[in-house]
Amino acid sequence: MSSTPHIMDGKTIAEQVMAEIALEVQAWTLAGGRPPHLAAIIVGQDGASQTYVGHKVKACARVGFRSTRIDLPEETTQEQLLRTVRQLNQDPEIDGFIVQLPLPKHLSEAEVIEAIDPRKDVDGFHPSNVGRMSAGLPCFLPATPAGILELLRRYQVQTAGKHCVVLGRSNIVGKPMAALLAQKGWDCTVTLCHSRTQGLEEHCQRADIIVAALGVPRFVKAHMVKPGAVVIDVGITREPDASRAAGFRLVGDVDFEPVREKASLITPVPGGVGAMTIVSLLKNTLLAARKEIFR
Ligand code: GUN
Repeated sequence: MSSTPHIMDGKTIAEQVMAEIALEVQAWTLAGGRPPHLAAIIVGQDGASQTYVGHKVKACARVGFRSTRIDLPEETTQEQLLRTVRQLNQDPEIDGFIVQLPLPKHLSEAEVIEAIDPRKDVDGFHPSNVGRMSAGLPCFLPATPAGILELLRRYQVQTAGKHCVVLGRSNIVGKPMAALLAQKGWDCTVTLCHSRTQGLEEHCQRADIIVAALGVPRFVKAHMVKPGAVVIDVGITREPDASRAAGFRLVGDVDFEPVREKASLITPVPGGVGAMTIVSLLKNTLLAARKEIFR
């Protein structure tokens, strides 16, 4: 699928899926639907969040979606943010929206997420969508785990009966990833490791599939990886790099070059999971526009 053996080329797969979505948008609008419309709220000036939201908005244009970006200042109050969320809940022109995380420390993410109408919660973060996912009901799947599943599917990775180690227990990636891989259809035996796990290296050494989502650069070393394992790297830490125009480079949670020698498949950073995450968000927005999850 990729010109380089072993590399799971998220960028190329994402292009393919985006072309598929663009065709679906065409069919939808030809049949009289209006273009799907995604809104993104971003609070403050965090550089990484600005970049991610920029990518999401650009991706919308490429598949024929409308998008609206709402930039709020760092000092926005909880009440002001909730008001903006409620406005989007009620706006019939908006099919789905996200509140980019993390929020500034004075704001409650949990309260903001709960205020989002689950029917427009295209991030899949609302407790209603999390519960529905857990119960195996139709729902908006969180974008990063859904993007990883799409990569596994397109590279025909066999998951049934395999031992998958998920590193990190965030609400956005680790917890939903572990739950989804254990579900019928994926059928993995899942071990969820976190900062308090004992024997983490030994768990990793027994893994057929490792999903690294801890946010610790180069955490997964070659000696932790079984020969032939599939290694998915969700990390995207910015490290200062004066030789780059941006002043930084992106580093994953996997010590890429040595681990690549042992893995049968591995995702690079950048060019792996990140692009797939955006594609999943677009898919959810299309589902929201067509009212396919909540009728
Ligand atoms: N921050 C990091 N990943 C995500 C994501 O998928 N959605 C939102 N809203 N914020 C994020």
